[in-house]
Amino acid sequence: MSRKEDANPETMTVFSPKLAARFDALVLKYPVKRSALVPMLLYAQDEVGYLSDAVIAEVARRIGITELDVRNVASYYSMLRFKPAGRYNIQVCTNIACMLRGAYDLYARFEKELGIGHKGVTPDGLFSLEEVECIGACSWAPAIQVNYEFHDELKPELVPGILDGYRGQARAGAPSDRSSSLGSKARSDPSRPEGSR
Ligand code: FES
Repeated sequence: MSRKEDANPETMTVFSPKLAARFDALVLKYPVKRSALVPMLLYAQDEVGYLSDAVIAEVARRIGITELDVRNVASYYSMLRFKPAGRYNIQVCTNIACMLRGAYDLYARFEKELGIGHKGVTPDGLFSLEEVECIGACSWAPAIQVNYEFHDELKPELVPGILDGYRGQARAGAPSDRSSSLGSKARSDPSRPEGSR
């Protein structure tokens, strides 16, 4: 996982050159470097897959704060992970709008099809599952998000087809789309969530 570019612990990096450049540009946008912490953690998570000890150490070093400071902030945000997720991380919203439109049946179907529960990862590492709070697609409830792709107005019987779609993508070697975070992908209809039908 780590990308050691040299043997000096002060400059060893797990960031790709692209991510390092992104970070360098990001910190210039804020009056203090620390303000770039959360977006930086999201970008790093997209690239590495989770907030490993090495990622946390590097972010702390680059921002000039302690690793404990980074962990304290990161632990507040449910979208930040300290363990690897599956290639496709399925987040099922069970907040009020989705709950009223069958989110728990939907979630149960994902559990059954995948054989895992909340925060679980399938043995092949392809899928992970999370029950989450509102993902901002209430008007099209019940909704889920797979990495950065939305699926809305779902029914449990649609779950096998959705999973097969991602299995097919994986077989074809398609990217998992983790890298499109923080709104970097244009939405054709800005009134609907990214990726919604
Ligand atoms: S309540 Fe589910 S998307 Fe808002």
